[in-house]
Amino acid sequence: MALLEVKNLNVSFGAKHNAVPVLFDISFILHRRERIAIVGESGAGKSTLGFALVNLLSKPGHIHSGTVKLDGTNLTTLTSPQMQKIRGKRIAMIFQDPMVTLNPVITIGKQMVEAIRAHTSINRHDAKKIVLEKLAQVQIPAPDIRFDQYPHELSGGMRQRVIIATALLLTPDIIIADEPTTALDVTIQAEILELLKSMCEENNVALILITHDLGVVSRVAERTMVMYAGRIVEEGPTLEIINDPQHPYTQGLLNALPQMTLAGHKLNQIPGSMPSLSDRPNGCAFHPRCQYAIEKCQIKQPNYIYSGISTVACHVLEDMISETSSSDSAFLNDGKDVL
Ligand SMILES: Nc1ncnc2c1ncn2[C@@H]1O[C@H](COP(=O)(O)OP(=O)(O)OP(=O)(O)O)[C@@H](O)[C@H]1O
Ligand SMILES: [Mg+2]
Repeated sequence: MALLEVKNLNVSFGAKHNAVPVLFDISFILHRRERIAIVGESGAGKSTLGFALVNLLSKPGHIHSGTVKLDGTNLTTLTSPQMQKIRGKRIAMIFQDPMVTLNPVITIGKQMVEAIRAHTSINRHDAKKIVLEKLAQVQIPAPDIRFDQYPHELSGGMRQRVIIATALLLTPDIIIADEPTTALDVTIQAEILELLKSMCEENNVALILITHDLGVVSRVAERTMVMYAGRIVEEGPTLEIINDPQHPYTQGLLNALPQMTLAGHKLNQIPGSMPSLSDRPNGCAFHPRCQYAIEKCQIKQPNYIYSGISTVACHVLEDMISETSSSDSAFLNDGKDVL
């Protein structure tokens, strides 16, 4: 059985009678110990999805329909106390800014001990032992000294290490990390991502990494989902998506990476900007920014098709695939060249 199975998840904002749909038919599977990434520009709905998975949508956001099953249990129907047990113990969350998670007036050690005691009957002495072990595991030097320090006494990178250690305290099944490194200095971003990945591996934890940076996902995630205006537009193995992106939006994201831009040239940003989730264009929401858009892209939302590389929602690619198969060619052309 899949560890997490998300099926046709639809999220809306606003009161029930005039609710605006913002996440559309999100479906995916996360296996035990697997690491997947959710990638997309600002406003794509990535954090909204992260919060929906753990039933933490702030009002008036709500799950309109669909299921989120953890080991077969549908989380969308659990009560708040039931869900609170799941969060922290089975699904831990890491946010962009460590100071959101850490209480500035309580020592690190005390916060971590309390996190254990809130979910278990472990006594203080044993909880402290676990905390020191976890701090050492995330390579915090002199854990016993750090234990008694306040969050502001640590650097940003050290704070994020504390957060990762806290997420691991109860060895959850899944960590959802929402832009865990964007608040950090560029030089330590890679280090923290590497740590997050190795900690998940060592502790048999699955990871959902939310990021706007397609450049970092190959280091961490085996599979990637690309999100645009509340919908997944491409999903597949990370390396294959990066080597041969199929959706024009994924191609645009990849081309916009600084490392894809020649020195002295301007970044190849995708023209235009992401529409607001509550005001999506008809048809394929990406069509106003897509250089390959054809008429039906303005009218009808594309279905998902398998391109041979990844699963993609794109009319142009669908037409190409059906032409290729009707002409009985054994090879699908490279999406980059043809699109
Ligand atoms: N509870 C809510 N009610 C109304 N609108 C919301 C709510 N939560 C988020 N939004 C809006 O939904 C849009 C998508 O937000 P979200 O934070 O999910 O995007 P994101 O992909 O995580 O972006 P970023 O990369 O900037 O973090 C934003 O325009 C935001 O203003
Ligand atoms: Mg976000």
